[in-house]
This record gives sequence, structure tokens and C-alpha cells, in this order.
Amino acid sequence: MPVELFNEKPLAWDSAGLDADTKEMLATLQPNILRAHIREHLSVLFLRFAVPADGRQFIRGLLPLMKSARRHLQEVRRFDQSGTKGTPYVGFGLSRSGYRHLGHEISDLRKFGDLAFLDGMKKRTAILDDPPAEEWDTPYQRDIHAVVLVGDGDHTAYQETLAKVRALVPPGARVLGEETGIAQRNPTGDGIEHFGYVDGRSQPLFLADQVSKEPGRNWNPFFPLSQVLVPDPLAPDPDRHFGSYFVFRKLEQNVRAFHQAEHDLADALGLTGPARARAGALLVGRFRNGTPLLMHGQPSSDGWAVQNNFNYNRDPGGKCPVSAHIRKTNPRDGLERGVMMARRGQTYGVRTDQPWDDAPPETRPTGGVGLLFMAFNSSLEGQFEFTQQTWADNPGFPEEGAGHDPVIGQGTREIKVTHPDSWGSTSRSTPVAQVPQTVTMRGGEYFFMPSLAYLKTI
Ligand code: HEM
Repeated sequence: MPVELFNEKPLAWDSAGLDADTKEMLATLQPNILRAHIREHLSVLFLRFAVPADGRQFIRGLLPLMKSARRHLQEVRRFDQSGTKGTPYVGFGLSRSGYRHLGHEISDLRKFGDLAFLDGMKKRTAILDDPPAEEWDTPYQRDIHAVVLVGDGDHTAYQETLAKVRALVPPGARVLGEETGIAQRNPTGDGIEHFGYVDGRSQPLFLADQVSKEPGRNWNPFFPLSQVLVPDPLAPDPDRHFGSYFVFRKLEQNVRAFHQAEHDLADALGLTGPARARAGALLVGRFRNGTPLLMHGQPSSDGWAVQNNFNYNRDPGGKCPVSAHIRKTNPRDGLERGVMMARRGQTYGVRTDQPWDDAPPETRPTGGVGLLFMAFNSSLEGQFEFTQQTWADNPGFPEEGAGHDPVIGQGTREIKVTHPDSWGSTSRSTPVAQVPQTVTMRGGEYFFMPSLAYLKTI
């Protein structure tokens, strides 16, 4: 077993003293798990094979297009040093029924410890307050066997690789569905989601070269590899070959309704002029430019334009409400660190307006755009599902009267909530209705991203 797995210090992946097991782990691990792979242009393909031979043929063809985590890290290093572009990302995951279809017996599947993975997402709708599967977009209603991710920063390289992947799909197999992720950036170059807010900033970091760039005493972004890696139970040597559970959810955003809710909340709280921006920040926990509401008015430091060095230890909710999206999904109290996932989402849908500006709500799209939510977990139940069910959908977390997560909470929003009168104030507004739900789950699935060593056995 790699000694680095539970290590309480970041992985120096390029260190000469790295043990042989860790080297093998990195040489057989898929990229994008320990460190996000650039994927400005991204396609996510959902496949179903007709006969097991189809699946095997496809995997054998795909392998030469895939690279290891180690190679990815080397490419990033080379790019930083000399500007040499890396190669496209090709990721591959199997659902429970995908493994079954390839011929694995139930006894093999039991080696995956994760109940959510073994159930598949359709069986978890009640737990997650998701819409019933019959209402999902058609591809997700089907029995998906595999997912393929193709991504790159360069449009031509991405398209060429995607064409190669498509050509590998055997005649009997079907591409049940395909999503196209298109990165969006604000004028300062930060990645944003469709409501216009900087996204993807707070991540668990595993590697020494990433952790060293984020010093700070208020939030430690370092997490051990065991946060996202599990032994690949079907690989030749699960002690050295690792994989990760992958959650995919298509989340449609009603941008008009969200911006209307921001306006209505600003009116209800009597916010005027520039202070109106605080309404949206009360919902998200950060302003649109990424500044944490908690650090309102403080200049950025640490070389990071978008701050992440903070916690809520001294804020009972007068600065950042306990219900704000980023506070619900990461209370930053030290006890709950095990819940944090490696988020690797990408926005979908084309906009003709500018998502970051102050244009009125009626000019915004009501659908057709959203987030392809993707994240790596070592436990789907303990990380993704816990975040969605026990925190976001629970109006009683972290305290009675908190309300649902205003961005992603699902389920009926019955209780009214209060907001601080002004930033940092202990006096509260009169109770107001919670903002309506503006994010709708359109379908998804759970996958396991196996080690390359497993895929080579196919
Ligand atoms: C359309 C849906 C979503 C939108 C618009 C959205 C938006 C955002 C934004 C703007 C941030 C702040 C940037 C950052 O701190 O990285 C954020 C952070 C975060 N989101 Fe979401 N998100 C969505 C879905 C989800 C889902 C489904 C989950 C998990 C169940 C989730 C979990 C998180 C977590 C853990 C953070 C980081 C919090 C922190 O560490 O401070 N998000 N999200």
C-alpha cells in the first residue's frame, strides 16, 4: 500500500525518494482526480454496450488515448516551465451495470464498498430529494454502462481527440447521450458559473506543489489522498492500483429566477446602491467576483485574487449566513473535513448575455444552461450524498431555522428565514420566505474511475 495514501503531508509526487508503490499508483491512476485537468472544452459521453465484447473492444481502443496522473503532472510542470502544451484528457468510468455487463459477478461488485455506487443514482432519488427518474432527460433514464470525458484547453486538440473516441464506438454500442461543457470566464479571467459567480475556487489539495502556493492559517486546503482515492478492487494489485468514485449530475440553472430572487431579497432587506450586491452574496457566501462575504471589504492577499484563507470560527452568521451555499457545503469547522470532494464541474449551454454583469433579470435565460456537476469521492455516501442530503437539503443544518441551501437545496422550502440587518450585525431581518429553487437536477449517474492497470486487463 502506498505510504503516501494517508500521509499527513502533501504528496511530493516528483520527489526522488518516492516509494515504489506510490510511483506505481501514480503511473496507473487516471488524471483529473488529484489535480484538475484543464478542460475549457469538454465532452461527456454516456455509453451503452450491446454485448460484452463491444465494451472490451472500446476500452482496448481507448487506452492508447488515455494518460496517467503522473504523466499529467509532468505535462503541467513542463507547461509551467516552457509553455509546452500538454495532451488532451481522456477519462473513463464504469457504472455498476457497466461492470456487470463486462462480465463481473455480483461477488466482484461487492468488493466495491460504496452502497450508493452499487445502487446507482436512480435508486437514490428519495434520499436526495431528486425529481423522479421518469422526469430526467432521456439519456439518464436509460441504463448507462460507461462515461467518457474528453477535455482540453485547445479546441482543435479537443475536437480531434473527440473524433477519435467517437470512431472507437463499436457498431452495436450506443452513445446514449452527450453533454458539452464550455468554460465561462469573467473579465478578470476567473472561471464562473451561470449565476455569474466565480466557481471552483475552494478545493481539497493533495500535492505539495499546489499546497505550497496557498499558505494561510485560517484554512488548510491540504487533504490526504485517501480523501478521494480507494483501492481499485478489480485491478491486478489493489494495494497499488487506485481509483475514485465519480458523481455526475446535470444541474439546470434558471438564471432569470435566481437574479429575480437576488433583487427581491435586496428589496426585502432594504439594500440600496452597491450594497444590493450583498443579497446574492448572502445566498452564495461569496460576491460575484469570488470575495468571501466573510471578508467583505478586505483586500485580497497571498497572491490569490480570490481569497480562500478563512473560516467561520468567529462568525455566528452575522457576516456570512449559516445557510449560504459555501457555508452549508463546507462549514470549515475542522470536524467535517472528511466530507469535502474534489469538484471538477463544468458549465454547459451557450449565453448571448454576459453572465457576470448587472443586466436585469428579464434578459436572462430561464433554462438550457447550467452546471455539469462532477466530483471525485472516496465515499459517495459520505461525501457527495452527505453534502446534498444532510446539509444542503436539510433546513435544520447547521441550526434550526437555517433553511435550505439557497443554491442547490432540494425539497419543499417551508420555513421562513432571517438575514443579518447589515454586514456583521447581530440583529436580524423580519422572517422572509426562502428564495425559490432555481437549480433543477436533469439526471445523472454514479461511476467508478478505475485504474489504468484494471483497464489493461480487459
Ligand atoms: C448549479 C449548481 C451549483 C452552483 C451554481 C454552485 C455554485 C458555487 C459557487 C459560486 C461556489 C463558490 C466558489 C468556491 O468556493 O469554489 C461554490 C462552492 C462550492 N460548492 Fe457549489 N454550486 C453548485 C452545485 C454544487 C453541488 C451539487 C455541490 C455538492 C453537493 C456543491 C458543493 C460546493 C462546495 C463543497 C463548494 C466549496 C465550499 C468551500 O469550500 O468554501 N455545489 N459553488
